[in-house]
Amino acid sequence: MCGIVGAIAERNVAPILIAGLQRLEYRGYDSAGLALLGSAGLVRLRREGKVAALEQALKQAGAQGGVGIAHTRWATHGVPSERNAHPHLSGDALAVVHNGIIENYQALRFELEAGGYAFASDTDSEVVVHLIHQQLQQGADLLAAVQHVVTRLEGAYALGVVSADEPQRFIAVRSGSPLVVGLGIGENYVASDQLALLPVTNRFVFLQEGDVAEVRRESVRLFAADGAEVQRPVHEFEGAHEDAEKGEYRHFMLKEIFEQPLALQRTLEGRLGGAEDLAQMFGERTAMLRDVQCVQIIACGTSYHAGAVARYWIEALAGVPCQVEVASEFRYRAHVVPEKTLFVTISQSGETADTLAALRAATHAHYLAHLAVCNVPSSSLVRESELALLTRAGPEIGVASTKAFTTQLAALRLLVLALAHARGLGEAALSQHLEELRQLPNLVEKALQMDAAIQTLAEDFVEKQHTLFLGRGTQYPVAMEGALKLKEISYIHAEAYPAGELKHGPLALVDKDMPVVAVAPRDDLLEKLKSNLQEVRARGGELYVFADQQAELQDEAGMRVLAMPTVPESLIPIVYSVPLQLLSYHVAVLRGTDVDQPRNLAKSVTVE
Ligand code: AGP
Repeated sequence: MCGIVGAIAERNVAPILIAGLQRLEYRGYDSAGLALLGSAGLVRLRREGKVAALEQALKQAGAQGGVGIAHTRWATHGVPSERNAHPHLSGDALAVVHNGIIENYQALRFELEAGGYAFASDTDSEVVVHLIHQQLQQGADLLAAVQHVVTRLEGAYALGVVSADEPQRFIAVRSGSPLVVGLGIGENYVASDQLALLPVTNRFVFLQEGDVAEVRRESVRLFAADGAEVQRPVHEFEGAHEDAEKGEYRHFMLKEIFEQPLALQRTLEGRLGGAEDLAQMFGERTAMLRDVQCVQIIACGTSYHAGAVARYWIEALAGVPCQVEVASEFRYRAHVVPEKTLFVTISQSGETADTLAALRAATHAHYLAHLAVCNVPSSSLVRESELALLTRAGPEIGVASTKAFTTQLAALRLLVLALAHARGLGEAALSQHLEELRQLPNLVEKALQMDAAIQTLAEDFVEKQHTLFLGRGTQYPVAMEGALKLKEISYIHAEAYPAGELKHGPLALVDKDMPVVAVAPRDDLLEKLKSNLQEVRARGGELYVFADQQAELQDEAGMRVLAMPTVPESLIPIVYSVPLQLLSYHVAVLRGTDVDQPRNLAKSVTVE
């Protein structure tokens, strides 16, 4: 999604803006631009494609300035092009960058065109800069102009605004799209994500919905939506700066796959002590778990798959009915809330627009409590939820979610155990489950040792156009996640099916050109799955099976078997996800795609 960086300093802010944009590249984008206020007045530069192209253009232009705003664009209205890239200008002194969608832009555009404004782009964003210009023409100062214009905008947005007529400050707004203020010494900044500003500060103020910030070198003033000046708390970033670096790895995705043992250890740290730890999961509010009669899980993408695994666990272990739904569907349909339902959102970023909207709608319904399972403590989702269970994976930069998924599963497993214990799971069974969880980092470490074998296997997939992923029980969502990983980074069409469903349609697709990947742990459904694999073999399909060492499956013509470590049933979905991540990674590398920033995708999906 779009990313914003803004800075004001005594020094030239161009390097801060470029470094900030580079650190936002992971969010996904198609063009980049910046506006600088310097001795030459307002200079704007834009390029289609990578930030590196913008950096090159900046070098050539030699532009400098003590105030600037910059942007990476992920196209919504208007194709990816230099003409549609931000900042947008009105006159030669005013520039605006925008993240989000202005839903009423058509009506505003007609109005502005009727008033004589000519549009230079196809974007919804350009209306904002002209509306502010109109206010300035009528005598408002920059702050008042922006405060007035936001009352006319419908939709979700974050804005950065500079004017060459007021070079001592710039204005930023947050309304539905994330924006954080960074505090420096004699200089201040804004960005869509605090990661963008870590090279220059570790002190942040998280704007609340509707906040307008007036950012000067020595001060930052904040105004709530009603215009009243407000104070917001200052937070210090606690993670390690290097978490957002690639280190020795070729891609962030690979680094994040290999970080999983450590990330899981952090997720579980201090939470495996036993019944007492679980009873304190949410402080005094943990007692509420005793009353839960139903669980509603809402999430998108990979996080939805984590929820789909949790559903099996919740019903089997806690004996509570559970529904899982993607946020974009849930938020727009009428639904019945069963009595005493726990509402759970799952999100890596905590900024996913659909998930946030579902939470906001749910706060008006009669849920027992709202709980966010999330990786970013400072995110909107965590701040707006009554309860939070943090996954502690550390920053995830690769667009394809890996460590966020496995840590979500580990956190959800803890939640399920707390719920089951509150509803009567005995101490002995609980200790056994916790003991299994303690083994998790080691088992994931063992699964990572399959990397070389999987790299070789990936060669079989490079030329393929379609693949099928099969699993049964908790392995069905694992197959869904495996298919999502492969399609998003290698651009190979991949579909997941519960293996028992194969004969009801997808079997028609199976031939020698369509590899079928299956996950075959040693569980109650193994024999059933083996029969499903025979159905594939009998139609000439090529099977690639990740199987337990004791599953009695061996290599044979048309079937490659990769031996997995033996894993307790409770951990199967987590450990078996790892080889599927590695498979998609190596296939994507062989196909030469942009692994960390796959085409058309964004890391943090902050628009609908
Ligand atoms: C998966 O690899 C994707 N990055 C995507 O499906 C992601 O899980 C989804 O957009 C939800 O994001 P969230 O967890 O930050 O809410």
